[in-house]
Amino acid sequence: MTQQTSYYPELARKIHSPQGALGVLLPGMGAVSTTFIAGTFLARKGLAAPYGSLTQMQRIRLGKRTDPRFPLIKEFVPLSDLKSFVFGGWDIYKDNCYESAKKASVLPGEMLDPIKKEMASISPMSAVFDRRYVKNLDGPNVKRARTKMDFAHLLIRDIESFKKKNGIKRTVMVWCGSTEIYLEKKKVHDSLALFEKGLKENSSEISPSMIYAYAALMTGTPYANGAPNLSCDIPALWELAQKNRVPIAGKDFKTGQTLMKTIVAPGLKARMLGLHGWFSTNILGNRDGEVLDDPGSFKTKEVSKASVLDAILQPDLYPKLYKELYHKIRIEYYPPRGDSKEGWDNIDIFGWCGLPMQIKINFLCRDSILAAPVVLDLVLFMDLAKRAGLSGIQEWLSFYFKSPMCRADLKPEHAPFSQHLKLQNTLRILMGEEVLDHSGLDYYEAKNSVIEELKGHHTY
Ligand SMILES: NC(=O)c1ccc[n+]([C@@H]2O[C@H](COP(=O)([O-])OP(=O)(O)OC[C@H]3O[C@@H](n4cnc5c(N)ncnc54)[C@H](O)[C@@H]3O)[C@@H](O)[C@H]2O)c1
Repeated sequence: MTQQTSYYPELARKIHSPQGALGVLLPGMGAVSTTFIAGTFLARKGLAAPYGSLTQMQRIRLGKRTDPRFPLIKEFVPLSDLKSFVFGGWDIYKDNCYESAKKASVLPGEMLDPIKKEMASISPMSAVFDRRYVKNLDGPNVKRARTKMDFAHLLIRDIESFKKKNGIKRTVMVWCGSTEIYLEKKKVHDSLALFEKGLKENSSEISPSMIYAYAALMTGTPYANGAPNLSCDIPALWELAQKNRVPIAGKDFKTGQTLMKTIVAPGLKARMLGLHGWFSTNILGNRDGEVLDDPGSFKTKEVSKASVLDAILQPDLYPKLYKELYHKIRIEYYPPRGDSKEGWDNIDIFGWCGLPMQIKINFLCRDSILAAPVVLDLVLFMDLAKRAGLSGIQEWLSFYFKSPMCRADLKPEHAPFSQHLKLQNTLRILMGEEVLDHSGLDYYEAKNSVIEELKGHHTY
């Protein structure tokens, strides 16, 4: 017999079943948030199925292919039930979730009718907002305070009173707010001490989403960032996450065009097909599109979208195939389309003897329909991570992000099938199951008698 080496018993965890309600806190209650909340209410009533969600619909293979088990992920790991969710959030507009969902018009009105009461009962708390970081928006529902540290304390108070009012012990926060302008890591982000000094001194390098992340981590709330702005992806907040034993994850939900790109590019690379150019453009007309119409916010998005091809193709290792790649990304704000984005990709590839070929992708997607199940899975997995005693960056959740956060000395993994394997293997490890590497040699090399055993065992 070959020796079994793919168990990591020292990494397995005793994870208790979740008790009581789970507070789901969403800074930004626009298209993505309200589509997620509405879909959850509809699923609870059995009026819609949570398509796109691994936690709700996917099965995971456990054990050998000769004796496999395929439980649903939600039966394999102790996740919270959708019925236990209590929603809360912040927005610069006062619209309740029903009104906001109507305005976003992702889900048709008749789908919202049966859940109108629940949706209308959720009103956003006043936001920490500063137009310098999101230039194309302005709204009345904002907090006033003297320093950024004071703003952080107001958010901490919101979280504590939300928990008290609803009798909740566990909360998770997912940033679904607008994309902020492009900021780079600066000295004030280097350590928790410098960051807290910066909060007190109103450093312009600290954006509202960083203040939300700080407040989340100070209250022991796992924090995931669905937008491309830095938010919790700075050393100061990595430090706070470790110190307070809280999981963090980000950045930028992987949906739409980038999802397609990261599905196609690893395939081309695996087959050693070269790339001359990749032009991606799309039209979208929702509020996110309006925000991205500002060059500052667009730059944040562009950086997030652009990095994926470099990371997947590794042009330094394969200069002949990918060094000359011309990668261009455009986003056009076009109001008539609303949330129904249309993306076009023109991909110029080359193969044997350098001869050129083209691929065209025309993806008519719905941004928030792709993002909502990502939010749901992040809520459930971040809560699981916390209960499992994991803290700091949760790289195993990179599957859900365009710019996955990872340790500073590592490069992020962008290929979705590798990310998916990492996610599922992490669940296997946590639950003390064998890690699957799909090498499969042991089926042929383990026993000399294997061919003998299979004689007469045919599948037609
Ligand atoms: N939909 C997708 O497929 C997708 C994919 C990747 C990333 N994202 C990101 O997710 C975020 C949400 O997208 P959306 O389509 O729901 O956008 P949206 O414009 O409909 O909603 C964002 C909401 O955030 C609010 N907001 C902005 N700053 C805030 C602050 N400081 N505090 C509280 N609220 C604030 C806005 O008022 C708005 O209602 C955006 O950053 C977007 O780039 C979306």
